[in-house]
Amino acid sequence: MPTNAAAWIKAADTPLEVGLAPCPRPAVDQIVVRNRAVAINPLEWIIQVAGNLTYRWLTYPTVLGSDVAGEVVEVGSEVTRFRVGDRVLGHAVGTDKDSNKAAEGGFQLYTAVLERMAAPIPDTLAFEDAAVLPLAVSTAACGLFQDDQLGLRHPSANAEPTGQTLLVWGGSTSVGSQAIQLAVAAGYEVVTTASPRNFDYVRSLGASQVFDYNDPDVVADVVAAFQGCTLAGAVAFGTTSAASCIRIAGACQGNRFVSIATPPVSFAHLAEPDRGRLAMPKLIARLVSSNVALQVAARRREVRTRYIFGTTLKANEVGTVIYRDFLPSALAEGRYRALPAPTVAGHGLADIQHAMNLQREGVSAAKIVVTLP
Ligand SMILES: NC(=O)c1ccc[n+]([C@@H]2O[C@H](COP(=O)([O-])OP(=O)(O)OC[C@H]3O[C@@H](n4cnc5c(N)ncnc54)[C@H](OP(=O)(O)O)[C@@H]3O)[C@@H](O)[C@H]2O)c1
Repeated sequence: MPTNAAAWIKAADTPLEVGLAPCPRPAVDQIVVRNRAVAINPLEWIIQVAGNLTYRWLTYPTVLGSDVAGEVVEVGSEVTRFRVGDRVLGHAVGTDKDSNKAAEGGFQLYTAVLERMAAPIPDTLAFEDAAVLPLAVSTAACGLFQDDQLGLRHPSANAEPTGQTLLVWGGSTSVGSQAIQLAVAAGYEVVTTASPRNFDYVRSLGASQVFDYNDPDVVADVVAAFQGCTLAGAVAFGTTSAASCIRIAGACQGNRFVSIATPPVSFAHLAEPDRGRLAMPKLIARLVSSNVALQVAARRREVRTRYIFGTTLKANEVGTVIYRDFLPSALAEGRYRALPAPTVAGHGLADIQHAMNLQREGVSAAKIVVTLP
């Protein structure tokens, strides 16, 4: 049995601490991965600073981390798709309510990953590139393909055009980068938003039109771009995204549905050392009032909305569609790109806290990654 170590979080709102950890054993439907690279998402620092609000079920000490890439070292008794030694990427779901297990968190040397949330990767794809994908792919796929979200046609190797256009607000985010690629692979045209410095980037992913989300006229401009198009729906990434998408969807023909990944209030302020005792109650109050305002705006415009929870695909057919049917061959054949590119922020468990701080300070079309040699 190899020795495991983890970047533990011992209580909500405390920094990570590296220490020994039990080596995970796989359940029947899991694989154990020796992680070679992990990526950082907003989710991890949001849980760290606001876990008592957002992930109240977590029992501490625990291990955060969603994105892993590495080699399979053990497979569960019912796993037939993977063998020891396979190179894989995996979406670790240890912080989910129905898991709540340190062994299934990503920020450690060995992680137990659900077989249906892992995909083989080609030899040409470095682990630090592969690690940028899992949570972002899962979140985009939940929003686009689940029946309770946009319910779009699934991606495939040679999708026929659907004749419909998807709005991806925040195309240069990590999740937006997947939403663009997945929607294009499913036969949708994509209109997106980003800062001008990322216009070429989102076009390279397949977006046909891109608008600057900071332009005061952006909502009117996107509505004009949709004239004569059938809206497939909208996916909203970024704190201002949901309100804008609701206004746009309300002015379009087609599926007036907005799948929302980002709440309308940022959690970043909670990480500031001088945030004050009332920071959390104030944030809760702003969250409630902003969400009520969104619901009022949506109802007035006859737009349906739903929040995305980026792991729900593990319990429906979308997980299998993505991690078994689509991603392995799309990566191997170069039809799907592991973007945004990694910014390697460290080389060991001890660097993960620093990497989380960097991600919280803000990235632009980049994914913060830590390698685990
Ligand atoms: N609900 C879920 O399950 C779930 C799961 C994963 C992520 N999320 C949320 O989804 C969002 C995206 O996550 P991520 O990891 O992809 O983020 P990320 O890569 O860290 O986002 C960075 C990008 O955000 C863009 N951005 C900043 N403000 C924006 C705005 N108001 N509108 C549009 N884009 C904006 C920036 O674009 P430019 O540089 O081009 O300006 C930058 O490229 C986050 O809010 C995250 O918390 C939710």
